[in-house]
Formats: sequence, C-alpha cells, structure tokens
Amino acid sequence: MHQDVNQLFSEIWQDYLSVTPSAKKVHELLGSSQQDDVINDHVAYRTFNIEKVGLNKLAAHLLALGYKECGEYHFEAKKLYAKHFEHTDPTAPKVFISELLLDKCSPELQAIVHRLVDQVSPEAVNAENFLYSGRHWDIDQSTYRTLLAESEYAAWLSVWGYRANHFTVSVNHLQNFETLASVNDTLKQAGFPLNSSGGEIKGSPEVFLEQSSTLADAAEVEFTDGTKMIPSCFYEFALRHAMSNGELYSGFVAESADKIFESTNAR
Ligand code: NI
Repeated sequence: MHQDVNQLFSEIWQDYLSVTPSAKKVHELLGSSQQDDVINDHVAYRTFNIEKVGLNKLAAHLLALGYKECGEYHFEAKKLYAKHFEHTDPTAPKVFISELLLDKCSPELQAIVHRLVDQVSPEAVNAENFLYSGRHWDIDQSTYRTLLAESEYAAWLSVWGYRANHFTVSVNHLQNFETLASVNDTLKQAGFPLNSSGGEIKGSPEVFLEQSSTLADAAEVEFTDGTKMIPSCFYEFALRHAMSNGELYSGFVAESADKIFESTNAR
C-alpha cells in the first residue's frame, strides 16, 4: 500500500501530465511554478460497472488511505452512477468516481466492454499503481468508433483506462483570484478553450458550487491498427460557497457534473 495520500496523488498527477501537457501551463498561470501552490478540489475517475473493475474496486485504494464515502449521484441520460470520497485532511483532494451502467447500454457495447475487461488481471486491479496504470487491453480503431457512436464516456475509457480523467483546481485556495469568472477570463486570454456546454460556469452560489473546465487536450493513442490523436484529459476549476451553517459545501451538483463530462468530447 502507498505510504500516504500525497505520494499517491503525486503519482496520479505525473501520469495525468503525461497525456495532459496543458495542465502544467494552467498550473503556472494560476499559481506559480511550484506544484504545492495549487490545491486540488477533486480528482475524477471513470470505470464500468463490472465487478472486477467497478467503482468499489477503485474506491478500495482510497478507503485504505483513510478516505470515506460521502455522497452518491445518478446521471440518467449518460447512464452513469457515481460516488464521491473525502479524506479527513482537508487539503487532500476529494475523489469522484463514476461507472457506466452497462445493463442500460446496447448488447453490442456490452459485448465490446466485456471483451476489454476480460483482458484485465485481478492482480492489476489490486496493485498499488492501479489508479495511474492506464489501459489494460488492446483495442482497434473501429471498436473505438463503435463505442464513440453510443457513449463518449465508454470510448474515452476504452483508450485511456485507469488514470485521472481530470484534476480540479480549488479556486477557494487561489491567492490571485476571487471569482470563477476571473479564472475563466485568464484561461481564455492565454488561449485555453473552455467547455461551454451548459454555459462556461456550471452551477451557482445558490447550489453552493460553481465549476468550469478546459476542453481536453489531445494525445496519441496506440491502437492495434495504428496511432491516432484522441481527446485525453482536461482541467477543471471549482469555487465552493458556504452553506447556512457557515461551512463550505463539499458535495457535487449532478446537473453540473453532467455537463463537465462533455469536456472530453472531440472538438
Ligand atoms: Ni470534476
């Protein structure tokens, strides 16, 4: 097991940067060149609801480090179920894990996904590097396109596997920004395109959480029949607001998260 939470997230961050080069530039733009200057609100994962690799298998790595389950979410249209986890150390990122509900998908998609997951060894899922281990199967381009036609989520997962889908800057902790709009303006001026599905800012002070995100980078994927540039990961920004009891809201807003998922759509 990992010695501590910081070590785990440092590995996850390095793996994420390897396919999301813009994240380092965004980091420098908002904080400084020191990674420690930027506190992450949360990190997000995707998986399939097959027991071998399901949400609980990912969560086990977090529970072992002292994380606790804190909320659950349903996304009817995207056929997803999700939970979020928090650590007692408030500077440790929350973790949002979603899984695709295969029984609500077509028989063709289900057959493809089972073929992929059959290639994953149970030992790999339990190994300490699973949350930054990437893909555990071979895939060709036409299989990717078949998945993409039905579920962008499934297609993304089929090429990128088990790694952070996004990191999220805690705007509350940024020294130089008070509002999410000012973060967004700085990003746009520096040339980073934002996800505008549902508006650039998802949520509001009324639901205690405002979120925005960049559109995913593209990175080279090795298929069995050649390499191709595919949308990889993105960076999200979250500003949390105090509830009537004075505490910052720590949950997620399903309606906003629903739009954030679209940050990995092909541009
Ligand atoms: Ni997120």
